[in-house]
Formats: sequence, structure tokens, C-alpha cells
Amino acid sequence: MTSSTRTASRRRFLQGVAAVGAAGVAWPLTGRAAGYRSPNDRPVFATIGLRNQGWTITQKSFKFADFAALVDVDSKVLGTNVDRVKDQQGRQPDSFADYRKVLDRKDIDAVMIATPDHWHTKIAVEAMYAGKDVYCEKPLTLTIDEGKLIEKVVKETGRVFQVGTMQRTESSQRFLQAIALVRHGRIGTVKRVTCGINGMSASPVIPVVPVPEELDWDTWLGPAPKVDYRALPEMRQGYGGGVPLYSNCHYAFRNWHEYSGGKLTDWGAHHVDIACWALGATDTGPSRVKPLEYTLPVEYKDGHPTVADQYNAATKFKIQVDMPNNVELIITSEGDNGIMFEGTKGRFFVNRGKIVGKPVEDLESNPLPGGAIEEVYGGKVSENHTANFIEGMNSRQQPISDVWSHNRMLEICHLSNIAMRLDRELRWDPAKREIIGDSQANSFLSRESRKGYEIDA
Ligand SMILES: NC(=O)c1ccc[n+]([C@@H]2O[C@H](COP(=O)([O-])OP(=O)(O)OC[C@H]3O[C@@H](n4cnc5c(N)ncnc54)[C@H](O)[C@@H]3O)[C@@H](O)[C@H]2O)c1
Repeated sequence: MTSSTRTASRRRFLQGVAAVGAAGVAWPLTGRAAGYRSPNDRPVFATIGLRNQGWTITQKSFKFADFAALVDVDSKVLGTNVDRVKDQQGRQPDSFADYRKVLDRKDIDAVMIATPDHWHTKIAVEAMYAGKDVYCEKPLTLTIDEGKLIEKVVKETGRVFQVGTMQRTESSQRFLQAIALVRHGRIGTVKRVTCGINGMSASPVIPVVPVPEELDWDTWLGPAPKVDYRALPEMRQGYGGGVPLYSNCHYAFRNWHEYSGGKLTDWGAHHVDIACWALGATDTGPSRVKPLEYTLPVEYKDGHPTVADQYNAATKFKIQVDMPNNVELIITSEGDNGIMFEGTKGRFFVNRGKIVGKPVEDLESNPLPGGAIEEVYGGKVSENHTANFIEGMNSRQQPISDVWSHNRMLEICHLSNIAMRLDRELRWDPAKREIIGDSQANSFLSRESRKGYEIDA
């Protein structure tokens, strides 16, 4: 494909985007490499996986990008979101059940991936090889080795990659303020960081039922083992609602190790991320991960659940993680959702809604120096996490949630799960990124993909 045909296909898409006033603006390949400058020269996106978070990140992006296509393996979800996007941008996006269709489209600059976790790595890797920049939801990976693979492909392809840990950019900059407080010594030497990420509920036995007509169950499973679809009739209410409360599919996939890592990776990906950033532990890792107490909702043998009809991710836990500089990191299902930083001179608590404690009150009489937040962020804080991604696409610099620092903190979450599954503490070598002296535990660093869904990288 030449730059002129690419420009032409992009123009064709943009000519339809009358509602956003961007019609007729071409984006030559050379312009992209140099960074686009025209205020109307918006990048073209496609979202893959739309039901809950996919729509949230799409919605947050209308101000900055145009959506040429949407992909979902649930035709009802797809239909609803095509209508929503059309309402917002005045042009109907194309719709596909197969993500590879958007990877083939030369007019699409970037993909936003919000499928369940077990699909992230395969789609992200193929998207980068197809020349797309990638915004992929957290937790980025299902295993530690998937993280290494993504790093390799980012390096190889030079694509810009944002992970969806938006606490780094959003939440009224509370988490940035927390990191600035720590960095400016307002709690003295850090001794302990406690990440409260809440527990999960166990499930009743969930029976095999017919697959809903609108769902391509085999593709939803993708790289995961082939199993039957399960659900109970009771519906989930509130956040993420409108689907069965107990199932092995939409939203509930979080509770299954086959597709995700329970709360440890779901919320751990947010709060452990901020903890590691504050500790300056973004390119290293712990020396030991020790489960102090925990409950797995089903029986495990050799690290694997012995039944297939109930949620299997930990429901309660308290994990002790030995971080560099003698800092103790605790990840717990108890207490408030948020992060408590404790040091020799004081402590404070931060979550998405508040930042409280004496060091915060003291800011009134002793504010942080000007620019302290920007220093943490590495520049002016972007309007939101998508805006930061697009700034990265322009400058060809990695955005604020880069894959390297994300993988380092996610290693702690994955190791916590492995330690609970095997019922023992793990010693970790952060340089080799290996568990020390435990071949069984090391066998959990990767997983086999189902035949036909291997990653070609
Ligand atoms: N950043 C955040 O705060 C945040 C919040 C919620 C969810 N998430 C993340 O977003 C991801 C999705 O979570 P959710 O709650 O939206 O889940 P969900 O189950 O509600 O939605 C996932 C969607 O992906 C679709 N899908 C599955 N496989 C697909 C494939 N191969 N191709 C295209 N579509 C596919 C499903 O049909 C479904 O519509 C998870 O990784 C989750 O951790 C992040």
C-alpha cells in the first residue's frame, strides 16, 4: 500500500465524519511519522470488545478520535454499540465479528482492546504487526511470559502502546499527588504500602446451558481451553450489569483463572501499579511473595482447580510482598479499596474518591513545590488517558502507561495468584524474571494456547 492510497482511504472515512467537522482532512503517512499537527487531523480508531469497558473507553475518546469500526463476538453488543457510536459521531462505524478484519484495514491507525484478559496478548501482538498503535485494557496479560512477548513486539515494531491503567492520568490527579508526597519525603522513609483491592464472591454450582444465540462462544473462548458455556438465570445489577451474575462469560470471566486472575489482576493492576510507581519500582520487582492468608473457593490440586462448574479465583487474601529497600507491600481483600502509604514520618490513604491523612492536611501550610505533579507525570498531565495515548502516537514516544512498567507491577499480581494456587511462598529473581528454585511454580509463567489460537511472534 502506498502512502497515497492510504491517504485516499483515510480521506474516504473522514469525508463521512461531518458531525465532528473533520471532513476531507488527509493524513499522509509521512505526516504521521513526523507527528500530525492539524487540529482536525484526528486519528482513526477501532474498538475490539465493547460490552462494558470497551464502550467506556470509546466514549472517552470521541473528543480526540474517529471510530471507523467496532468488533465484538456478541452480535447484540455489537449492534447496540454501533448505534451508540453513530449517535455520537454522526457516521456509522463498520462492524465485524472477527478482529482480523480491522487489522487488515489500512485506514485504521490504532485499536482499543477491551476483550476479556485471555484475548489481550494475541490481539495486541497481531495489531502491532499489522502496523497499529494499541490501547489495551488492564490487566495486560494472563501470564508473565505474555508480558515479555508484548515487550519484544513493541520494541520490534516501534508501535505506541498504552495500557488502560487510567489512574495514572485521571481520578483528579489524586494518585499523582500521592506519588509526589512520597517522593518529596512527606511520610519520611517508606516502610509499608497496603493495597486494598476487595474480595470476590464464591459462586454456586453453575450449570451448562445453551449458548445465547447472539454469542459466538467458540471465538469468545479463543486461546482458552474449549469448555461448555455456563450460566445461572439471576442477572447482574449495577456496574457491568445486564448479563448473568454467575457465568463463565461476560463480566464474570474475572472470577476464572482460565480467562483472568480474579481481584489480584483486576484491581491489583490499578493499585499495585500506583504503589510500584511511588516506590520507584517500575523496572524491578519483589524478592519474595508470601500468601499470609487466603481462601480459594474450590479445591485445587497441583495448582489447578479440581472442578469446572464454580468460580475458582481467590475470594479473600492477604499477600505480603518484599519489595526493594525493605518496603513491605501488602495486597489485601480487607478494608477500604485504596492505598495506604506508611513511612517513618506519617501515613496517608488515597483512592479514586479521596486523599486523606496528616501529610495531606499539612499541604495547606507546606504545599508541594510547583511542578511536583508534572514531574511525576513527566510533563503536563493529559486531559485523559486517551489524550495521552494520542500524544504518544504523535510524538512516537511511549505513553504514560507503558508496557514495561505495567508488566513489572503485574508480575507481583500474577505471582500472588501462583503462590495461592500452589499454597506456598515464592522467591523471585527480578533480573531473570524467574521464580527461584521452583520448577512447578515456573511452569505457571506461561500457558498453552488452544490449537488454532497460538500467537505467531
Ligand atoms: N480500566 C478499567 O478501569 C477497567 C474497567 C473495567 C474493565 N476493564 C478491563 O476491560 C476488559 C473487558 O472487561 P469488561 O468488564 O468490559 O468485560 P465484558 O465481558 O463486559 O466485555 C468484554 C467484551 O469483549 C467481547 N469479546 C470477547 N472476545 C472477543 C474477541 N475475540 N473479539 C471481539 N470481542 C470479544 C465480549 O463479547 C464482550 O462484549 C478486561 O480486561 C477488564 O479487566 C478495565
